[in-house]
Amino acid sequence: MIPESFIQELLNRVDIVDVIDKCTPLKKAGANYSACCPFHNEKSPSFTVSPTKQFYHCFGCGAHGTAVGFLMEYQGLSFVEAINELARMVGIIVPQETRDPNKPAPKVVLGLQESLQEAAQYYKTELKKSPRAIDYLKGRGLSGHVAAKFQVGYAPAGWQNLQSVFPHYESETLSVAGLVVENEQGRRYDRFRDRIMFPIHDQKGQVIGFGGRVINPEDTPKYYNSPETPLFQKGHELYGLFLARRAIRDAGRALVVEGYMDVVALAQYGIEYAVAALGTATTPFHIAKLMRQTDEVVFCFDGDNAGRTAAWRAAMNALPALTDGLKLSFLFLPKEHDPDSYVREFGKEKFESEIKTAMPLSQYILKHLSEDNPLQSQEDKVRFLNEAEPIMRQISAPRSAMYLRKKVAELAQLSVDEMQSLLKLPGLNKTPVQARPKLTRTTNSLYKRFCLTMLMQPALASKDDLLWIVGHSDDEILLRQTIETCLVHPHSKPVVIMRELEQKVDAKIMRELEHELNALDETLDLAQELVGARQQLQQIYLHRNENELLAKISEKPLSALTDGERNLLKSLGSKPKSK
Ligand code: UTP
Ligand code: MN
Repeated sequence: MIPESFIQELLNRVDIVDVIDKCTPLKKAGANYSACCPFHNEKSPSFTVSPTKQFYHCFGCGAHGTAVGFLMEYQGLSFVEAINELARMVGIIVPQETRDPNKPAPKVVLGLQESLQEAAQYYKTELKKSPRAIDYLKGRGLSGHVAAKFQVGYAPAGWQNLQSVFPHYESETLSVAGLVVENEQGRRYDRFRDRIMFPIHDQKGQVIGFGGRVINPEDTPKYYNSPETPLFQKGHELYGLFLARRAIRDAGRALVVEGYMDVVALAQYGIEYAVAALGTATTPFHIAKLMRQTDEVVFCFDGDNAGRTAAWRAAMNALPALTDGLKLSFLFLPKEHDPDSYVREFGKEKFESEIKTAMPLSQYILKHLSEDNPLQSQEDKVRFLNEAEPIMRQISAPRSAMYLRKKVAELAQLSVDEMQSLLKLPGLNKTPVQARPKLTRTTNSLYKRFCLTMLMQPALASKDDLLWIVGHSDDEILLRQTIETCLVHPHSKPVVIMRELEQKVDAKIMRELEHELNALDETLDLAQELVGARQQLQQIYLHRNENELLAKISEKPLSALTDGERNLLKSLGSKPKSK
């Protein structure tokens, strides 16, 4: 469980404009930012992002939500994944709610980024001092220039070298950053010892982790990587992407390889658009990340069996991210080679001419499915169809899907229609763009308007306002809760207050409120609005009281009225009906 207080802290720190801009470049438009909506097809921008409200809203398709909602929708993340991603962006740690309610909540740890950066600098300096490490790199054909470009370093042998860099060697930051390990006896020591260090950078070029390679061939494991940390998730990062961005743009393609050394060696030989998945399978996140840089991705894994397995997994993971504009292909090296050894033996030109002949994804899929299937007997064809079905289901890019379906049907000796009536594959026409929602601005009820002004400026909320709300209609409950929440969070952004409210108010009402918030005119004088709303609220209260009082009093003889009732009557300027 992620504590609610943390989510609010996070939403207060994150700027939705930064978050969305990374995925869909935004343009400033008045007080807001706008873009063509990433959730439906459109030619002119109707997607807006409000920095003050911290919400996005599309007037075309009605998509709307917070930074968390955006990541969930755009990157297909779960709520927890989205929170983790946001925390990563601002470099803070997601605490887990402790079981023991008496324990204090874990503190937000800062300084991960700075620690990693310092460590990278230290490893770089140490490399210069170690002839053995330098010899190793030279022996692998790396020039000083390329080593410097990749900021390659060396972690010397010894258990606590980092103590010389970090006076607070005991700090939790170092263990969270994955630089220091603590054993069961509570003794702390450096994670990386006597290893060649490859810093891993995020897209801003900041160090978020390391891979460390042994020098002695008998040491294990060959590569040791940073653990998953708030800054570093293997499934999301690609080694070398920051340095390769420019070359990827120039070449119009990215090359995905398996190893750190493949990336570095390819760069040494002038192929600078290579990146590596970090010892994991290529994930849909990797693909989505690359697709933001280029529309041609070539996978080139090792020629051995492990490499071939990795290629198939990459192909399968790419299916959901596939679009008709994207070209994916697979280059299979001879069994004894990896990209590093291949480029060293045959050079850049030969490597690039091989890239041109790489096998397109569709062809690879069909080849793989029919590799050990002679497609002769009826049983062969049924098996083929069974294996092809889940693959076809995952491709939503209409043209690619259609051509693959045609091919599969052909090989299974069915017509496309026969296959379709058998498998009932999802339709390929784009889901029609949702009708434009009517934007006739309904006059907000007084209560909602009151809520909106307070959401925008929670510091304007006043405890006294609670006195005027006596009823229990949905709107009144909403207002009461909004005031109470604003009193607790007078300096929070609207998005944080909304999140609190979600726990207390009916979801339908919240949706309406969010809609109203998105349509709210940003130029309003909020303090002025609130004065007006307050007056109306009081009038409603008095009016209601007046009626109730009159009804009550009309039952009573004048002599039976209390002093208080008489005074109230006077102030209302009414007279009891005389009996
Ligand atoms: P390889 O063994 O193919 O690495 O593993 P490589 O880059 O070609 O290494 P060299 O040429 O022997 O130096 C591919 C990737 O798998 C991960 C690393 O990310 C490595 O680059 N890996 C491999 C590990 O994480 N741990 C290991 O022990 C081995
Ligand atoms: Mn290798």
